[in-house]
Amino acid sequence: MVAFVTHSEQETVELGQKMGKLLNAGDIVLLYGGLGAGKTVLTRGIALGLGARDMVTSPTYTLMHRYEGKVPVYHFDLYRLSGPDEVLDLGYEEFFYGDGVSIVEWPERLEYLCPEEYVRVEIEIAGEGKREITVDAVGDRYLRFEKELKGI
Ligand SMILES: Nc1ncnc2c1ncn2[C@@H]1O[C@H](COP(=O)(O)OP(=O)(O)OP(=O)(O)O)[C@@H](O)[C@H]1O
Ligand SMILES: [Mg+2]
Repeated sequence: MVAFVTHSEQETVELGQKMGKLLNAGDIVLLYGGLGAGKTVLTRGIALGLGARDMVTSPTYTLMHRYEGKVPVYHFDLYRLSGPDEVLDLGYEEFFYGDGVSIVEWPERLEYLCPEEYVRVEIEIAGEGKREITVDAVGDRYLRFEKELKGI
C-alpha cells in the first residue's frame, strides 16, 4: 500500500501523471471514492502521464471515452450503469485485456466482471481541497508498479 495526501486539484493531477508514466498496455486502474472525490481529476493526470493531450472530462453520456496516448487510454465512468451486463455489451474485454490502459470510475458496478488483478486506488475527502489517496496492487502483475510508485 502506498498513501498520498494532496492539497489541491493540481497536486492530484501531478500524482496521476506520475502513475501514468509507470503504466503499460493492458494495465487496469480501478478508482474508488464517492461523488466529487477526485476520480476524474486523477484520471486526467494519468492520461497526461500516458501522453494523451485531449482534455479528460467526465464521460457523462457514454460509459467510456478513449484518449490517444503512447497507448490508448480507456476511461470508464460506470456511475449510471444499470448492471454489469451493459459492460459486457460494450465489449469490455477488448479494452480491459487489450492494447491500452483502462481506468474505471465506480468499479463497484462491475460486480462479477471485476478483473482479478488491478491497481486499486481509493480517494477520500479529508477536508476542503485535501484528499487522502491510497494505492494498492491487487495481484502480482502490479507489485512492480507499487514498488516504483513508492520510490517517487
Ligand atoms: N486535492 C484535490 N484533488 C482532487 N480534486 C480536488 C482536490 N481538492 C478539491 N478538489 C475538487 O474536487 C472535485 C473533484 O471532482 P471529480 O470530478 O474529479 O470527482 P469524481 O470523483 O470524478 O466524482 P464523480 O463520482 O461525480 O465522477 C473537483 O471540483 C476538484 O476541483
Ligand atoms: Mg468523475
